[in-house]
Amino acid sequence: MTEPLLSVLDLRVTFDTRRGPFEAVRGVSFDVGRERVGIVGESGSGKSMTGRAVLGLVRPPGRVEASRIVFDGTDLRGLPERRMRTIRGRRISMVMQDPRYSLNPVMRVERQIAEALRVHGRPSAAEIRRRSIDMLTEVQIRDPERVLAAYPHELSGGMGQRVMIAMMLVTEPELLIADEPTSALDVTVQLEVLRILDDLVRRRGMGLVFISHDLRLVSTFCDRVLVMYRGRIVEEIAAERLHQATHPYTQGLLNCLPRIGGGHGDLPVLERQAAWSEA
Ligand SMILES: Nc1ncnc2c1ncn2[C@@H]1O[C@H](COP(=O)(O)OP(=O)(O)OP(=O)(O)O)[C@@H](O)[C@H]1O
Ligand SMILES: [Mg+2]
Repeated sequence: MTEPLLSVLDLRVTFDTRRGPFEAVRGVSFDVGRERVGIVGESGSGKSMTGRAVLGLVRPPGRVEASRIVFDGTDLRGLPERRMRTIRGRRISMVMQDPRYSLNPVMRVERQIAEALRVHGRPSAAEIRRRSIDMLTEVQIRDPERVLAAYPHELSGGMGQRVMIAMMLVTEPELLIADEPTSALDVTVQLEVLRILDDLVRRRGMGLVFISHDLRLVSTFCDRVLVMYRGRIVEEIAAERLHQATHPYTQGLLNCLPRIGGGHGDLPVLERQAAWSEA
């Protein structure tokens, strides 16, 4: 196998709380190549913290430890913030779960996209405008001129999410970590965004980490699925083999998927055992 784009070994994220340390991520290891890797798991299982830790975006009191976080031959652990910034946003981008926290509220969309582009080089004003409009059009924004002139609070949730995606893709990163990137989108726009991401993986060889609580979406869209439960990866499986999952938690998640045309019996209760989150 060729060198993976990203290699993570024994990643831990710990929060010191008044009741003692809380481990949100407990020794997670995975590799990502030029492929689509999905991370699924219930709310609070540590999916977002895993993504943020890779990019050095866990805020105090959170602490990140790992035996390895290597991106294309560079160890990201303890990298000075100045060097981290040249990688973040340029070579690795992250679409955050809530666009309201990642867009700058006092800056018009146009300037935010321009700043993303300037990280990359010195494009002219006309070039910036053209590329911004192209990218917004690609994420199905019908009136890009109006959106460019808007402040984030003037956008709907779904539009904010699309602006975020456009901003993260406009610099053509080699690795994209997308945290619930389509959760605020209606189905048709969601499909379009997935098509764009898919195209970038196939055509440009981008690596994609796709974080979602939606097992059905992840299993149809991704090549490989990591199932997280209470801060650990309990199962790693090729998407097309998901129905052969061996871990009871994954099986439980699969059984919870509603079936179209299926019966209207009681929803199954997801079983959880303390042993699954033990070392
Ligand atoms: N500042 C903090 N202090 C203490 N615990 C925190 C803090 N931030 C996050 N956590 C905890 O870390 C755990 C993992 O959070 P994370 O955001 O990674 O979950 P998630 O899997 O992304 O969930 P969701 O599907 O709801 O987005 C959660 O139990 C959360 O409560
Ligand atoms: Mg999350």
